Amino acid sequence: MKLSRRDLVWIVPSGLAAAFFGWFGWRAVKIQFLKTAVPKEIRWKKGERVKIAEVSEFDEPWSFAYREYPIHGGKLPIVVLRLPQAVPGGLETDGKYFAAWSRICTHQGCKLDYVRNVEAGAILYNYRSDHPFLGCKCHFGAFDPLESGKAVFGPPRFPLPRILLQEEGGVLYAAGYETPLRPIESYRPLKTFGS
Ligand code: FES
Repeated sequence: MKLSRRDLVWIVPSGLAAAFFGWFGWRAVKIQFLKTAVPKEIRWKKGERVKIAEVSEFDEPWSFAYREYPIHGGKLPIVVLRLPQAVPGGLETDGKYFAAWSRICTHQGCKLDYVRNVEAGAILYNYRSDHPFLGCKCHFGAFDPLESGKAVFGPPRFPLPRILLQEEGGVLYAAGYETPLRPIESYRPLKTFGS
């Protein structure tokens, strides 16, 4: 069949539109559903041992603390949570469960916030959860502490790198981090990340 110029006038834009919507649909599926699982085998990179807090300062499940961990000559913002249950990569001490993560979003490196109020989280992030989560204001990504930091909503695909916790004499310490430390590598040589 021979195509006339008049045919091309609608075939070309239609083809481009179909390609665009196909790409857009695939991207939407990838963003919402194809999240990378949290690694079962954790590759820790041990580092300086830094005091986080007294265990007793975390008086109830879902209490938290923001801290910094020395890395690459700079400071990595981290969040430490007391959880209601054990999670892989976390720490159990005296019947209490803890876990900690980098606060740098694995999407494009913004600093995460701990969203304790789930009703406010549902409004602010358009993500409904029955428990607190870690949220990113840049593109409204969410990470689930009870899934060990898995990306569960929005653009981020990769889970948050975990922080190695230790306990001694009633004190919590951070002593390393999970590798790969996404997305920090591409942010070197900044001294402070996620600011
Ligand atoms: S940088 Fe966090 S969702 Fe995009």
